[in-house]
Order: sequence, then structure tokens, then C-alpha cells
Amino acid sequence: MQVTEKQGGTYVNGAWRNIGSRQEVKNPATGEVIDHISFVPKETVQEAIDGAHDAFQNWSKTTSSERAKRLRTWYQLIMQHRREIAEQITLEMGKPFKEAKGEVIYGASFIEWYAEEAKRIYGETIPASHPDKRLMVLKQPVGVVAAITPWNFPAAMITRKIAPALAAGCTVVIKPSEETPLTAIKLVELAHEAGFPPGVIQLVQSEPAAFSEVCMQDQRVRKITFTGSTEVGRHLMRQSADQVKKVSLELGGHAPIIVLDDADIDKAVQGVIASKYRNAGQTCVCGNRIYVQEGIYDAFVARFVEQVQTLKVGDGMDENTDLGPLINVQAYEKVERHVQDALNKGANLVCGGQGVQEKGVYFYEPTVLTDVTADMQVMQEETFGPVAPVQKIKSEEEAIQRANQTNYGLAAYFFTESMSKGTRLMEALEYGIVGWNDGVPAVAQAPFGGWKESGLEREGGHQGLESFLETKYVSVQL
Ligand code: SIN
Repeated sequence: MQVTEKQGGTYVNGAWRNIGSRQEVKNPATGEVIDHISFVPKETVQEAIDGAHDAFQNWSKTTSSERAKRLRTWYQLIMQHRREIAEQITLEMGKPFKEAKGEVIYGASFIEWYAEEAKRIYGETIPASHPDKRLMVLKQPVGVVAAITPWNFPAAMITRKIAPALAAGCTVVIKPSEETPLTAIKLVELAHEAGFPPGVIQLVQSEPAAFSEVCMQDQRVRKITFTGSTEVGRHLMRQSADQVKKVSLELGGHAPIIVLDDADIDKAVQGVIASKYRNAGQTCVCGNRIYVQEGIYDAFVARFVEQVQTLKVGDGMDENTDLGPLINVQAYEKVERHVQDALNKGANLVCGGQGVQEKGVYFYEPTVLTDVTADMQVMQEETFGPVAPVQKIKSEEEAIQRANQTNYGLAAYFFTESMSKGTRLMEALEYGIVGWNDGVPAVAQAPFGGWKESGLEREGGHQGLESFLETKYVSVQL
């Protein structure tokens, strides 16, 4: 049993709160209860918004250097504590410890990057049409931001949202996933140590619907930023419409991976494995369906399967583990359902296809299916698990047509050594993120986000800061 019990996990106006209904936090690798938090009542969510609104009055007026200094200190503290944060991630989420360590560094990089970017929030002057007028554009923080974050990256999805918000001068109320509240607590403990003024960062452990209800009814919450399913994103967008709140949504993906005949096969195998099996297939940008051109198909499948079979499934704390458990029983059942549906419709199971019960309840073998067809669930919706369905295609044109035939548009990948083909693919794919010979493209300085039903706005890069700023046009008559 850890220390959170004394805190409850909610942090409002610079102090920890332990009120509300007690909730278990479990390790998905063992099913063991590792800690408890408390879901606060709606009044506490309200109090967090009140405090964030009060704190905004001063925080929004601090200099960018002051905000940068706090962010930088927070970044340094996270880096100093990276091992214990990574352990926390693995214990509550299950990903391999080596990946968790990578996530902490990735997550911290957003804070470091936005600490620098805070100093580059520039306005504009516009030439006037009259000699006695002066026209200006100011950039100002949007106000109080509610950040609803997912379980698959318990650290990085918080920092990717709130570092730009804080850099812009906004204050934030974070609601982490109920599956992974403990990493959020560690990050906020370090933010406290970094000296953010009370109310600037609020952390609320809450039942999800109660949290969004309070936020949606409060005019002072000017922006909702959310990462999660398209279904929930749509719901939040509808709710936000009443008060025309700004929304940033990072939603579901269904990423295609295209391997053309002239691909470097080693690069392709390595890239597909990184994209597909990272976090046991539980990222929004994971390759979900793989299209391989007929000339390279047999060689690619043989090499790919050989490599997939070397991946080790197990408890994330074991240093040999490549794939941890799925997050919960619903996730496990979805993977089983997708594999079964594909097999029922004639897919060929090349490897995997089973749970690994001796390791624990939610472990699933890295799986490869061939002879898949477009009508199978794996080819139509996000699996969010370690299943790679491979389909043979004839041409670049067919690849583009199949890749774009979806309402999702988050990430797409392709492997080709040809500059001409790559350029055509890069331009034709209807996706917000494209990896060309690259299975893991996301970095702090680049915009992350989707087209179509995969989302709105961007996180990361200077675009990520823009979505926490309002534009004000000022015309001065001299
Ligand atoms: C996500 O799953 O949305 C995050 C993936 C990443 O940042 O690479």
C-alpha cells in the first residue's frame, strides 16, 4: 500500500484533499490493488475551477520569463525523479519499464520545449489604411482550461496538454484517467515543488461524467482539452457547444501502414514493429492495418513474423519484457473479438492469437494475421491491442485508396526508398501525422493531431501553444 491514501489524490489551491468515495487503483499485470484515491464530490470540482479562475488573474499577467522559469524547474525535477515516475507508470498502466522511462523523457520534453516557447508568444502589427491609425494583434491566454487525460500515456498526455497551456498563461484543472491517477499525482507533487502558485495547476480525481458536467456548466472554463475515444470526444464537443467553449480533441486512430515493393525491408520490419507493438498496441497512433505490395509481400511477412515471435510478453517490471498487459478486461475482450471476427471471415493466423493466462489476466500474444479483407473488424476500427493484420495490395494507388477509406485521420505510415512515390504518398494521405520510413514520429516540437473524426487542433510544436491563445485585434485612432 502506498502513500496516496493520505492524500486522496486531489490537489486544489496548493493543498492535497482526501474526500469523497474511495477507489482502488490496480496493477493490470497482476490484478493487485496498489493504492487508493478518492473521487471527490462535484463541489470540489467546482472549488478547483474557482481556484483556477482566481489564480488566472495573476498567472496570466506574469512575464513569460517567470512562466518559463517555473516550467524549466518542473522539467528538471521530473528528470531527477524519472526512475520513480517510470516505475509508477509501469505499476498502474503495465507498459514495459524501458518504455515507461522513455515516456517520462518524452513527457518532460514538452515542458522543456514550452518553457522556451513561452518567450516567443508574438503579436503582430498590421499596416493601416489611414495615416492616423495603428493596427495590432495581441495574443492572450484563453483562461481556465480543463484537461481530461487518458491512461495509455499517464505522464506524457498530461504534460503535452498542460505545458503549452501554462506557457500561454492559462491555469489548468486536470482530470487524469481513473485507471492511472498515480502518475498524475507524482507530476503534480513535483509541480508543487517547482513553485507554481496555488490554483495554477489543479488536479481532480473525479468520476468522469461529474467532472465534465461541472466544467461544461461553468462559463469560466474556456477550453476543454481531451485525449480519448472519438465517441467521448463527440460527446464533449456537443456539450461544449452550449457555451461555445474551445475544444482540442485527440481522438481515435486507425492507422494504415503501407510497405511498397522498393522498401528497405529491415527498416520496414523495424518501423512496423515499433508502430504496432509499442505499448502493446495501445496508442492512438499505432499502426492498425498493414498493406504490403505483392512484390515484397512474402519476404516482408516472413521477416516480420520472425521478429514478432521474439517479442517477450510479461510483467512490465521484468527488464526482458517487450509487451505488457492490456489495460483491462474490456480492452482484452475487444482484442479477442477482433481476432475471432477475422478468423471467422477467413483470415490466416500466422502467430499469436491467444491470451497468455499464465502471465496474468490481460496479457495477449503479439499476433499476426494474413489474408485479411476490408470487411473484417480489424480493418475497420481501432483494435488498441497487439494484433497486426496484413493485406496484400497491388499498387501505390490501391494503397492510397485503402488507406484513406476511413473516417479516421490521425496517423499513417509508409515505407519506400523512392523519393517520388514517397512524395506522392505523403501528399495523398488524409492524415494529420505521417511517418515516412518512421514508425515513431511524435516529438515535442512537431504538431500532433488528427484529420476527420480523429480530432481538432494540435498538441506539440508552436501550433500546440496557439490553441491556448486568443487573438485580439486592436485598432488605435491617434
Ligand atoms: C497517443 O496514443 O495519443 C500518444 C502517442 C504518442 O504521443 O506517440
